[in-house]
Amino acid sequence: MLRRLYHDQPETFAFTPENQKWAEAQMKKFPEGRQASAIIPILWRAQEQEGWLSRPAIEYVANMLDMAFIRAFEVASFYFMFQLQPVGSVAHIQVCGTLSCMICGAEDLIGVCQDKIADKPHELSADGKFSWEEVECLGSCANAPMAQIGKDYYEDLTAERLREIIDELAAGRVPTPGPQNGRFAAEPLKGLTSLKDYDSGKTKYNASVQLATDIGDTVKRIDGTEVPLLTPWVKDAKKVAAPKTKAKAAKPAADKPVDQTGVTKQQAAAKSKAKPTGKSNPNPDLAGEDAGSAPETLTAPRDGKADDLKKISGVGPKLEQVLNELGFWHFDQIAKWTEAEIAWVDSRLKFKGRIARDNWMAQAADLAKGA
Ligand code: FES
Repeated sequence: MLRRLYHDQPETFAFTPENQKWAEAQMKKFPEGRQASAIIPILWRAQEQEGWLSRPAIEYVANMLDMAFIRAFEVASFYFMFQLQPVGSVAHIQVCGTLSCMICGAEDLIGVCQDKIADKPHELSADGKFSWEEVECLGSCANAPMAQIGKDYYEDLTAERLREIIDELAAGRVPTPGPQNGRFAAEPLKGLTSLKDYDSGKTKYNASVQLATDIGDTVKRIDGTEVPLLTPWVKDAKKVAAPKTKAKAAKPAADKPVDQTGVTKQQAAAKSKAKPTGKSNPNPDLAGEDAGSAPETLTAPRDGKADDLKKISGVGPKLEQVLNELGFWHFDQIAKWTEAEIAWVDSRLKFKGRIARDNWMAQAADLAKGA
């Protein structure tokens, strides 16, 4: 497959301050003069930030690492994990088409993607929410056919189940990853036939699915709100050397600037469709911590007994802790949030619409009623 730069590029790229700090810390892992060794994690962080790798992003990383652009582009174009064109705003679906999956029905899964997303791989669906591609073996052959969606594997798929999964994702829900036919992991469908002493019988999901469920962020791109982006090898973060960025800004890669902020066409379209979130928050994307209005909070759980906020799909242990620190302990608190209050919480969690997309309020209202 020909991998080349996308025809419609943003003018510029810059890391967020958090990602910049993290990327600089990656460079400290290597001896002086060998900073180019950090290219893969830093390109990956750029992709996690933007969804795909634009030319300005690759140039930015090349400049940071004092590399020729072509060297950085060689890496970005060699590894298929790097997306060189915009991907779906909700999910990019990677269907394994290698032998085991092909024998077990991968072609049917690809047919579903062509039918529901776009005829050709790497094209966005009409609503911009999805894209797909066929990939080589993802190492889950015992659970064929399978697809990677976001960070997680959906295994033992059928065409019908993949259709349902895409519909659920489009509706803002994140289906539980892992085997989709009731298997715990890769054991025989009718149960263990040997080594029965090792039957888990203790956990609902296998370790990988349990972690995905706990974190609750299968399709969200990693930005440090689910698990902290730690750099324990840097003793004093202030001592991290400044990157060797060249003074000039990254060159526009095409004569089609998207907008002056470097926002991609896809993001700009998503913004224009976003509903306003209240008078005090005219532009929630730019307002940061001033967005929306603060909901009523508590300094401690009522009667010392907090609700298990992890029951809300999309909330894992880390998020629950953050919500508690903000003063939210009970389902009924969350169920009452207004649009302006959602914007306030959103800006603190840096979730960019995730709360409404996962409909935390309806889930919390049901849970508050004991459903
Ligand atoms: S053949 Fe599909 S995961 Fe290996």
